[in-house]
Amino acid sequence: MTNSSITGWGKCLPPTVLTNHDLEALVDTNDDWITSRTGIKERRISHVGTSELATLAGKRALAAAGISAADVDLVNVATCTPDTLIPSAASLVQNNLGASNAGAVDQNAACSGFLYSLIMACGMVEAGVIETALVIGAERLTYFIDFTDRGTAVLFGDGAGAVVVQATDEPGGLKGSEMGSDGSVADILWSPGSGTATNRVELESDHKRMAVSMNGPEVFKRAVKAMGDASTRVVDQAGWALDEVDILIPHQANTRIIDATARRLQLDSSKVFVNIASYGNTSAATIPIALTEALEAGRIEPGAKIVFAAFGGGLSWAAAAYEFGSRVEPLGETDEELPPTEGDVMSLLAENFAYFGGGPNQ
Ligand code: ACO
Repeated sequence: MTNSSITGWGKCLPPTVLTNHDLEALVDTNDDWITSRTGIKERRISHVGTSELATLAGKRALAAAGISAADVDLVNVATCTPDTLIPSAASLVQNNLGASNAGAVDQNAACSGFLYSLIMACGMVEAGVIETALVIGAERLTYFIDFTDRGTAVLFGDGAGAVVVQATDEPGGLKGSEMGSDGSVADILWSPGSGTATNRVELESDHKRMAVSMNGPEVFKRAVKAMGDASTRVVDQAGWALDEVDILIPHQANTRIIDATARRLQLDSSKVFVNIASYGNTSAATIPIALTEALEAGRIEPGAKIVFAAFGGGLSWAAAAYEFGSRVEPLGETDEELPPTEGDVMSLLAENFAYFGGGPNQ
């Protein structure tokens, strides 16, 4: 059977930074609490829509793979924060890239979305349905964050990451995978006013129903169990011994959740990739951003045995045991950047404050 190989990778982080100290002016919190309870020091706030972040990450991944947009058969964007419900973010990305031979679809499994998309794309490539997929995780989650709610305000950020998945005869690819869901507790992490179940007249007088609302400790407990269990099962499926795993690239939601997952896999911290301090939780984008940075930092060797694991709204979770290909250097790069932005982070968030309430020193 044909194998699937990740041949390109890229990321796009908007330039505007919201630090823990900035948050001290918005909610009753402090840098010490955020750092010790989550590992986050700062996060990015986007001045452009999700599809623009996704497009640039996608261009960088295509350049790294050394292919053109016309070679792509499928653009798959994992996101729970698309620019519009119709069209999909993927359709906008397909058009921005000029991927004229590609189908385009969004997938929403919240923070687990990228792994769902990667697993499905690898399966389609291995089954011979397509040859080349551009798989992107992209979010502008801060659009849905109420910066008067300290339980969520400190956690999330915006960004995008992308990979190119191509058919190959090389060994490797997806060796084990799991996708899971428990919708019975969907309301411990949700945005109740963001869809067609919403009474729009009531929403007018209660904007906060549009915001992400979360029972942090409940989510935490379930994340630790689901990510740990799924990670060990995919390693087992792959037929790997635990000590053969070269690196864990987990969803970046909380360093304590990451540490617990690493302990289940008996992995030393040197075998775990963590960049949460810089970006917070960018939902579906954390894993492709982390993979890109792990490659840029020389942390992925040819043939590396990687475990990916994620958990998020739904509740959803996913894990994959993935054997990387022989090339860990990009074939090319693009010098394109996002359009510039003016003003500081608080002026960028002014529309959010006008909608949900709050603002500096309110
Ligand atoms: N700053 C200061 N104090 C705070 C803050 C804050 N930002 N938030 C809560 N506290 C306080 C609480 O009020 C509480 O105070 P009390 O003891 O006086 O009542 C105390 O800190 C402890 O609160 P907990 O909520 O129990 O804190 P916990 O250690 O659980 O940490 C956190 C909270 C960081 C949210 C953690 O539960 C967590 O990471 N949960 C998982 C979140 C997650 O991973 N989401 C991912 C999915 S995202 C997706 O799918 C889109």
